Amino acid sequence: MKVLVVFSLVALSAAAAVSGYMSDEPDGVSTQQKQYDMTYAFYKIFEPIRDNNLLEKAMTFNPVADTSMYKDAGVAVRKLMYEFTHERLLEKKHWAAATNKRHLEEAIMLFEVFMQCKDWNCFSSNAAYFRERVNEEEFLYAAYHAIKHSPFTQNVVLPAVYEVKPHYFTKAQVIDQAYEAHEMKLKNMVFQNNFTGNPNDMEQRVAYYREDLGIGTHHYMIHLENPFWWKDTYGYRIDRKGENFFYAYHQLLNRYDAERISNYMPLLEELKLDEPLHEGFAPQTTYKFGAPFPIRNDDIKLQDVDRVGKIHELVHMEDRIYDAIAHGYVENEQGNKINIENDNGIEILGDIIQSSYYSPNRKYYGNLTTMAYTMLDRQVDPKDKYDLPPGVVAHMELYPRDPAAWRLQKRIDNIFRKHIDSLPPYTKEQLEFTGIAVTDVQIQGTLETYFEEYKWDLVNAFNDNNTETEFFDIYASTPRLNHKEFSYQIKVQNNNGAPKKAVIRILAMPYRDGNGVLIPFDEGRWLAIEMDLFVKTLTPGSNDIVRKSSEASITVPDVPTFKTLVEKTMAQENLQKYQSATGIPERLLLPKGNEEGVQFRLWVAVTDAAEDVNDESIITMKKYHHYGVHGVQPDKRPFGYPLDRRIPDKQTFYEVPNFKETMVKVYNHNVYIALPRQ
Ligand SMILES: *[C@@H]1O[C@H](CO)[C@@H](O)[C@H](O)[C@H]1NC(C)=O
Ligand SMILES: *[C@@H]1O[C@H](CO)[C@@H](O)[C@H](O)[C@H]1NC(C)=O
Ligand SMILES: *[C@@H]1O[C@H](CO)[C@@H](O)[C@H](O)[C@H]1NC(C)=O
Repeated sequence: MKVLVVFSLVALSAAAAVSGYMSDEPDGVSTQQKQYDMTYAFYKIFEPIRDNNLLEKAMTFNPVADTSMYKDAGVAVRKLMYEFTHERLLEKKHWAAATNKRHLEEAIMLFEVFMQCKDWNCFSSNAAYFRERVNEEEFLYAAYHAIKHSPFTQNVVLPAVYEVKPHYFTKAQVIDQAYEAHEMKLKNMVFQNNFTGNPNDMEQRVAYYREDLGIGTHHYMIHLENPFWWKDTYGYRIDRKGENFFYAYHQLLNRYDAERISNYMPLLEELKLDEPLHEGFAPQTTYKFGAPFPIRNDDIKLQDVDRVGKIHELVHMEDRIYDAIAHGYVENEQGNKINIENDNGIEILGDIIQSSYYSPNRKYYGNLTTMAYTMLDRQVDPKDKYDLPPGVVAHMELYPRDPAAWRLQKRIDNIFRKHIDSLPPYTKEQLEFTGIAVTDVQIQGTLETYFEEYKWDLVNAFNDNNTETEFFDIYASTPRLNHKEFSYQIKVQNNNGAPKKAVIRILAMPYRDGNGVLIPFDEGRWLAIEMDLFVKTLTPGSNDIVRKSSEASITVPDVPTFKTLVEKTMAQENLQKYQSATGIPERLLLPKGNEEGVQFRLWVAVTDAAEDVNDESIITMKKYHHYGVHGVQPDKRPFGYPLDRRIPDKQTFYEVPNFKETMVKVYNHNVYIALPRQ
């Protein structure tokens, strides 16, 4: 491995370089090598490879020379090479999007090549070879999915997508300013990248959430981990895929509503197909190659989209799904009935609604989500008259930016609600954990949020003919939400006379809406946000549990900047905590709150691990989150348990001794912490 980093390595000696700290991989290649190769595959993605070793591979490797390196003896790679040599693949320096059928097809062809590799040499050589030859966006799409799913790359941290493609996340004028600074050889520059829009738009009040880099990353990861086009022949079955699709979105939506309440806004309303779409969106960003991201005006009438679909087709698909919910079963392609009135039903519905290849009957139930996304995205040019590139809704890392995208997702969420609300509520007996009582719940510290300035590296935005890695310390910055540390102090009494393993679930239900009106208990249940989930062994007698906000198992830290990632790799630091970026960003654990305090009913539910836990690894796992760990779901309960099902009588919940409600308030006192300027 050749060290090409020319920035100061002095800082590295301070950061304990413990060799052997990183576990070597089962295939004998070090994690560090893999991380290094993959970081460099994405560094300056729009320009030639900067690492000599990878460059050499890109120039000398022949993907079809020795097909014994592929599990399928080269079937996938020959297919791709055929398309490539016949010049049928999309050229470089052109936009691409997964909503474009052909672009997606090409990206999947490359993905399949990666997944067929038997060893790291095959994987990295193909990465180097195709990085230099196929469309950059398609390469990125294929390689990111492959890294998430290949057995060889389970410990590789994906570089932050907003640094790999800074153009997508940074306003065009900021990119221009930065470019100029780069041309003038300036260093250590930070350019403010404010949110799109201005306060004349009420939706602007929650732009900090929609445009949060961590929310974009999380949303992207949900799709990376659960691609709708996934087939088990790629290697394994993705556990509870359809349910993941529902719940990950459901939590994002509920958190969005908590932010709306914090900002005195109405709760999100589902998109109506027969009413004007009120919310427009101006992304203010430009593709690296090609036109600006299109703007959608306010109050447009939703239209059929040529060569994509018709509004009534969406309605028909929804009707069929609502019918299935009303019947309590779906029909597979052979006409057999599959019961969905059980805990597993949500997974099947999720597959159907996601347009997943797991759907038991794609022919009948269709491709609701992919079609709806594509149609919403094309509303700016439904007759394809203006040759506009796709908008933000076509890119999963940008999708949350558009206010209308949330309304569409709310519409989809309401289908799931129809199903879940058709299931019987839990009885007191089902919820009880014999001999266990939660006697007290206190918050230590204050639930308080603030804004801070955050910067990301624009290195990938500059073209230059450097042959070496160089970081210029030119950044864009944006305000983002963060919160003060706090902890839960939970007292649990165990009267069983023996230790009991318990799952502790913490959920917060909004108490009042943005107008200060009380939210009915059962509505608050549907809007609950998950705060934490962990396992504890309860000793007989009284147990004092202290759980820090920083330990929350549903959150993930920010991926380090490109430069830090390179530094940490060179220093052989353990990067494990960054491996999964699928989760609510740590900073956003608390919704913003406001000056007077936003009230939540905080529920602590202590349930029996013997009944809840699927996989013992949940006990030792530090980071468990509902999106699974490498595709495995350790919790047996439905996501959101016990607030998932209808609660017709809230008294039930107050009578369960192993549950306890505490009222809390989340504050924000308009504090903003800017980065120190040099
Ligand atoms: C961003 O917002 C800040 C504070 O409102 C303002 O001072 C600054 O000029 C804005 N920057 C840009 C590039 O619009
Ligand atoms: C949805 O499915 C239909 C029928 O198979 C197909 O023609 C269409 O291209 C699909 N649309 C999308 C956006 O996936
Ligand atoms: C880039 O190429 C130009 C022309 O070949 C040369 O003048 C310049 O010095 C090069 N810049 C760098 C940073 O190598």
